[in-house]
Amino acid sequence: MILAVAMQKGGVGKTTTAVNLAVAMALQIGEASRVLVADMDPQAHATLALGLDKRGDHPAVGDVLMGRTPTAEAIRETPFGVDLLPASLELAVDEQKLSADHLGAAFRLREALNTVRQRYAHVVIDCPPSLGILTICSLTAADRYLIPLEPLVYGADGLTEILATAERVRRYTNPDLKAAGIVINRWDRRNQLGHQVVEGVRTSLGGQVPIFHAYVVDTVSLAEAPGAGVPAAFYRSRNRSHRQALESYGLLAREILGEEMRQ
Ligand SMILES: Nc1ncnc2c1ncn2[C@@H]1O[C@H](COP(=O)(O)OP(=O)(O)O)[C@@H](O)[C@H]1O
Ligand SMILES: [Mg+2]
Repeated sequence: MILAVAMQKGGVGKTTTAVNLAVAMALQIGEASRVLVADMDPQAHATLALGLDKRGDHPAVGDVLMGRTPTAEAIRETPFGVDLLPASLELAVDEQKLSADHLGAAFRLREALNTVRQRYAHVVIDCPPSLGILTICSLTAADRYLIPLEPLVYGADGLTEILATAERVRRYTNPDLKAAGIVINRWDRRNQLGHQVVEGVRTSLGGQVPIFHAYVVDTVSLAEAPGAGVPAAFYRSRNRSHRQALESYGLLAREILGEEMRQ
């Protein structure tokens, strides 16, 4: 499955979800280098969270999208069971070039991934916080998209726009795109407001996009691990909520992969 983690708002947990879900999938498969993380954000947060440098002279996803490097040459192994198609700061420049290229720009990632698709059981794409060409490329390459959502006031803001964008992608570039679901991130069950926001979203979507059973708690280890350049599963913490978060990513991976098997 190719899964895009998308939402135009920044700071909602796209990168945290993409990295930790990909690692959870790899742990469940139990074999290294069968899951690929594709970093489509010029900020390169997924790249950093997997311990790689965004300034290195190694080719990155922008080189692949612009046809300067074959996909396989840009992919790196990580010590965490997942491979990485890294982003670098130059992706911001390449994004502008892609935006100006009206013919087929949306298909660049899809074509790039096609050349390595056989190697991987799953590809998880970390989208940038915008609905620009890099998100369009990601949704065009994906079978499914997943939306992280924080159960706060205004937490559901932007949901209409991402759903409308997915609908446009379905219409013009990827008729097979489907919603995987919404992941509730930074969950605190004692917070009454959170329950109201989740129920509000459930009602307004009317089953059109499911909400995963796995809610990811707010836990300091998820915020600290990227600074250490490791996914949460490889970060040492004795915090009880750390273990809870890891269990949630495991459950989320099973929900997504189980859903795929039922198709
Ligand atoms: N469940 C969580 N608990 C604690 N911190 C979190 C959680 N999810 C995300 N964060 C932190 O919040 C910030 C934004 O998350 P991030 O995944 O980078 O969002 P996005 O990719 O959507 O911009 C990061 O510093 C991240 O470490
Ligand atoms: Mg991010």
